[in-house]
Amino acid sequence: MNAKIGVFGGSFDPVHIGHLMLAEHMLEAGGLDKVIFMPTYIQPFKQDNQTASSENRLQMLRLATSDNARFEVSDVELRRASVSYTIDSLRELQQEYPQDNIYFIVGVDIFRLIRKWYKFEELVSEFSFLVGVRPGYDISEVSELITDIQRDFQTDIRLIENPLIDIASSNIRNRMKLGFLAGADSVQYELPASVYDYIYAHGIYEGTTLINQLRIDLSHRVSQRRYEHVLRVEELSVRLSMIFGENVVRTRLAAVAHDICKDKDEEGNALLHSKHAEKMLRDMYGVMDEDVLNAVSFHTTGRAAMSRLEMIIFLADAIEPGREYPVVHKIRLATYESLEAGMKATLEDMDAYLSRKGLELSGDTAAALAYYNDI
Ligand SMILES: [Fe+2]
Ligand SMILES: [Fe+2]
Repeated sequence: MNAKIGVFGGSFDPVHIGHLMLAEHMLEAGGLDKVIFMPTYIQPFKQDNQTASSENRLQMLRLATSDNARFEVSDVELRRASVSYTIDSLRELQQEYPQDNIYFIVGVDIFRLIRKWYKFEELVSEFSFLVGVRPGYDISEVSELITDIQRDFQTDIRLIENPLIDIASSNIRNRMKLGFLAGADSVQYELPASVYDYIYAHGIYEGTTLINQLRIDLSHRVSQRRYEHVLRVEELSVRLSMIFGENVVRTRLAAVAHDICKDKDEEGNALLHSKHAEKMLRDMYGVMDEDVLNAVSFHTTGRAAMSRLEMIIFLADAIEPGREYPVVHKIRLATYESLEAGMKATLEDMDAYLSRKGLELSGDTAAALAYYNDI
């Protein structure tokens, strides 16, 4: 039997829950067998630092659709790397699915102008259409247009009322510009979790976000050597967060911030820089996330019963690739086994190091060793 395939074009910058809901709705209401998401090429002159690259838009779509066997992603328009006529893209897809019927999914505002589209007559002769209308839209005019086209070309065109969704990619991008901890974190509920993590892991739409700002400020505040250490801590902690299931954004933020007061405080008490960094993050950057603040605050001393994020920052700081001391290899292996095992190994090493100097662990660190020795 010939399958019915919906083709859903758009910039998907980024793909969000509304796109997925609409595609699912078209599947059901239009009786489709599958929906192919087809990201459109964006002209370089229309791109700016809030626009994701073709590769990233494609990757976000793949992540967003990977758990639905009836959703697919096509890169036909991106591959061509120039703005495409709909008919050319649909014909190319038709070659991949020669037996199947292709339905182009299109909003009513664009469909209304279909007589002006490139090769209009061939388009409506070769392909079918699912026209989405907003609830409450006056369909009299477009119904007439559809009747005319159906009479002249025998085109299969169906009007389908869209579900009510008020999510826009542009709005998501704009709110991300503000930085997620400044109140824009609500975007996370408008995106599939995998897409949300991908955006932060790759710094997409990051233009002026908090993390970017911190990285810039850091580069002015600390030595080049320290700056490179922080970037290595950032990279490693993000990797650990992916392995152990921590939020990538919070991890990245804590990692970038952890040594922001380091060089200025080096003369005095070496432990103070973590407390100063926490205060600065809270007072100057408006960070309110207690877990992030604690991860920064306890990255030097550790403490009993640390959160996952606290352990990740503490350990990434101790074992980033630039660190070389006798047992670092052993601690790295322990960390990949579990964060708790990594904590135990690190604290034991700190303890051994101090005893060789005739000193003892104190305060939070002593409590941490007792705690992690026990579990
Ligand atoms: Fe530090
Ligand atoms: Fe550090």
